[in-house]
Amino acid sequence: MRKTAGTGEDWTAGYVVDVPYTAGYHRELSPSLQQYVLLQQGITPPHEPDGGFDYFEMGIGRGFSLNVHALTHPLGRFWGNDFNPEHVNFAQSLAAAGGATIRLFEDSFEDLLKRDLPDFDYISLHGVWSWISHGNRRAVVEFLRRKLKVGGVAMVSYNALPGLASAMPLRHLMSNHERHSRGSGAPLDGRISEALGFAQTLRDGGAHYFRINANVSGLLTSLESQNPQYLAHEYFNRDWAPMYFSEVAACLTEAGLAFAGSVSPFGCLPELALTPEMNSFVKGIESMEFREDVRDFMLNTKFRRDLFVRGARRLSVEEPLRRAGAMRFALIDPPKSPGGTITVGMREIALQKEIYEPLIAVLGGREGGLSVAELQSHDVTGKLPPGVLNQALSVLLGMDCVAIHSGDAGSLENVKSLNRYLADRAVEGSPVAHLVSASAGTAIRADRFEQLFLREAGRGADAEQAAIAVSKILKSRGETIELDGWPLVEEADLLSELRDRAGFFYRERLPLFRKLAVGL
Ligand SMILES: C[S@@+](CC[C@H](N)C(=O)[O-])C[C@H]1O[C@@H](n2cnc3c(N)ncnc32)[C@H](O)[C@@H]1O
Repeated sequence: MRKTAGTGEDWTAGYVVDVPYTAGYHRELSPSLQQYVLLQQGITPPHEPDGGFDYFEMGIGRGFSLNVHALTHPLGRFWGNDFNPEHVNFAQSLAAAGGATIRLFEDSFEDLLKRDLPDFDYISLHGVWSWISHGNRRAVVEFLRRKLKVGGVAMVSYNALPGLASAMPLRHLMSNHERHSRGSGAPLDGRISEALGFAQTLRDGGAHYFRINANVSGLLTSLESQNPQYLAHEYFNRDWAPMYFSEVAACLTEAGLAFAGSVSPFGCLPELALTPEMNSFVKGIESMEFREDVRDFMLNTKFRRDLFVRGARRLSVEEPLRRAGAMRFALIDPPKSPGGTITVGMREIALQKEIYEPLIAVLGGREGGLSVAELQSHDVTGKLPPGVLNQALSVLLGMDCVAIHSGDAGSLENVKSLNRYLADRAVEGSPVAHLVSASAGTAIRADRFEQLFLREAGRGADAEQAAIAVSKILKSRGETIELDGWPLVEEADLLSELRDRAGFFYRERLPLFRKLAVGL
């Protein structure tokens, strides 16, 4: 068995390797988004929009996010590691398909410390901190201490307290059930579904824990429909350590890092989530660590995505707006109702139609989006006071309706080449449910059918021809579509469903994909 040098432990250190992780896209890893959030906090980002930078992602999983960022930030140099060879192999296949230059290491965090590496402007880890052993967290902190440049930024996401406190016994129960059933020889996904079933039996039998923690009962119900790969990596590692913000901040102080802001949705606008009374209450708390903890009690925070910097350099009041001028916003998912209300933390916020309607129309009208400076000088959006425009853009970012990008767009040919590869894989079904937008510098949600329709559109097919082509693909693979749990058995029913989906795709999605340079 492979050993992680130095620890004498099994190389996995209790981390799940039986099944690979999902291949999601996580925008919090984007250097552009991190740059924007730092500017909003009045802190100098590690790089200028037109400058180069070195970026390391720790524990890349299947490496889709890293590939997207490397392809769409051509001035950056990208690096990453994961100790699971299957993950690194997948990431390498994406890099080969898209032509991204990424230096990938099949290293554990301990092994990484022995490499001769440059110092980095960005070191990010998403979905790693809470799921690894204490010893591995120490290795992560040591890597940050040694390898993050002065002025550099670390993004660390983690399961947070108090939001997950009541779920800890549920995870203990399920994980222990899975551990005790290992002798059965059943594969991990089978053992996971038995563990869920066991917890449900306890709940349905009236176990008091579930009665007094109604939210946990709801959580258990929601787990039934989750992807088994996600469940394995979220709940069935040996370690699962939700922490208070102040505990994580204390660990990172040892690496010389201080809190700089949040890349969570609406993280640029922390006051929006609380009532005015709550805001003035937390403002009265002097210690930043305690203040953040108290906010988390107010919001019952379950997950945090925090930025920490080594040696923050504060900007003058006008600087952030000036520097953000070159950053581009692209509409990736137009809001259903520009004058509706949204929930942010404790509050319902009404979107002012007179601000959001014209802003969305202007953003949606331009291929690849507009820079903040262009929005400021535009006939329509230029009428908005800079502070109002800035806040509205941050709100749209929080809603995930827009993407932010800074610096050169990546090579369209490379992005197309990766999208072609992904759409070809969609024929047999692939774990990637996104395609890449060259101009928005991000990934856009695109399920298997959308990828297949785009593949057909790229060959000149209209909606009807695309529906027929996809029905042939499914037929040749002996597959069909399930609606409300019922498979469409009749060929005519399948074709009719595909016609509906293709019609919607050609009407609503294809024009958006074209505007965002999501081509094949
Ligand atoms: C939950 S996944 C998150 C993956 C990716 N960051 C994402 O968000 O999609 C955690 C990743 O950390 C990797 N990992 C866990 N322990 C590790 C270790 N000791 N050294 C290197 N990688 C590790 C796992 O293989 C897995 O890919």
